[in-house]
Amino acid sequence: MSNCREAELIHRFKGIPFTTRSSPELLNSLDTFDAREDDVLLVSYPKSGTHWLAGVITKLYNTQVTLTSPIEFGDISTLEELDKLSSKRIIPTHLDYNMLPPNFKNKKCKMIYISRNPKDTAVSMYHYYRENPNLPTVDTWTAFFDLFVKGDVVCGSWFDHFLSWEEHENDKNILFLFYEDMKKDLPKIVKEISLFLDLCVSENDIQDICKKSSFSEMKSDTEKENSDPSHTICSLTSNRKLIFRKGTVGDWKNHFTPKQNRRFEEIFNEKMKLSKM
Ligand code: A3P
Repeated sequence: MSNCREAELIHRFKGIPFTTRSSPELLNSLDTFDAREDDVLLVSYPKSGTHWLAGVITKLYNTQVTLTSPIEFGDISTLEELDKLSSKRIIPTHLDYNMLPPNFKNKKCKMIYISRNPKDTAVSMYHYYRENPNLPTVDTWTAFFDLFVKGDVVCGSWFDHFLSWEEHENDKNILFLFYEDMKKDLPKIVKEISLFLDLCVSENDIQDICKKSSFSEMKSDTEKENSDPSHTICSLTSNRKLIFRKGTVGDWKNHFTPKQNRRFEEIFNEKMKLSKM
C-alpha cells in the first residue's frame, strides 16, 4: 500500500493511530466534553463484540435511550450533536482509558468494557481491514499479524488498550465483560448487565433479548435493513453489514501458524505479566 493512501486514511493522535474519520479537532476537544451522570459508556477495542453488546443493552431499556455514534467519530459537530440529545445516551467508544474525557470519570458514569481473546480479535480485525475501504489495504494475514502485534493498527496496541482499562476493573462504575462469556451463557451476562444498570428485567424478557441478539438474528436484521445500515457504533466503518462475519470463538486457529502462535504467546506473556487475565 502506498504511504500516500495510508496518510489519507490514518493519522496519529497522542501516538495512537486513528482513521481520518476522527478529526484531530474533535480528538483535541474530548478533554472538555460535558458528560451527564446518566450516560452509559460502551467501551471496547475494535472487533471485540461491541455491536453485539450494544444490541443487548438497547433492548434492556423500556424508556427512550439513544445509541449514539462513537464519541471519537466525526468532526467537532459530533460533540455538538451529542450535547443536543435530550434522551439518555449510550455512548460507544474505542478510546483507551487515558484518552477518555475526564468528565465521564469525575461524574462516575457507568461504563461497560467488553474484551475478547486478542487472537480472535486480530483475525476479526484482519478481515475487517480487507473489506473496509476506510482502512489501509493489507495484502496478507502474515503482514497484518505483524502490524497487530506491534500495535500499528487503528486504535493502537490491544495490550495497551486492555491494560489501561484493566487498571480500573475494581472501580464500582465499570463492568468488565468477555465476548467468550457471552457466547457461553448469554442469559447470565444479560442478567449481570441489567443489575449493573439497575434495570428490572423479567426472565421472559431476558430470554427474548437473547433470542433477538443471536448472531443469526442480528445479521439477518442488518441484511433485511431492519436496522439502519449506516448506523455503526464503530468509528471505522460506514457499513453495518461488514460487522457480522462469523461470530465464533477460536477462529484464530484457522489463521495462526504454530510459529505465529508461539510469537504471540511470548508477547502476550511479556506485556500482560502484571495483568490478572
Ligand atoms: P468476527 O469477525 O470474528 O465474526 P465489533 O462489533 O466490536 O466490531 O465486533 C465484531 C465481531 O463481533 C465480529 O466477529 C462479529 O461477527 C461478532 N458479532 C457481532 N454480533 C454478534 C452476535 N450477535 N453474536 C456473536 N458474535 C457477534
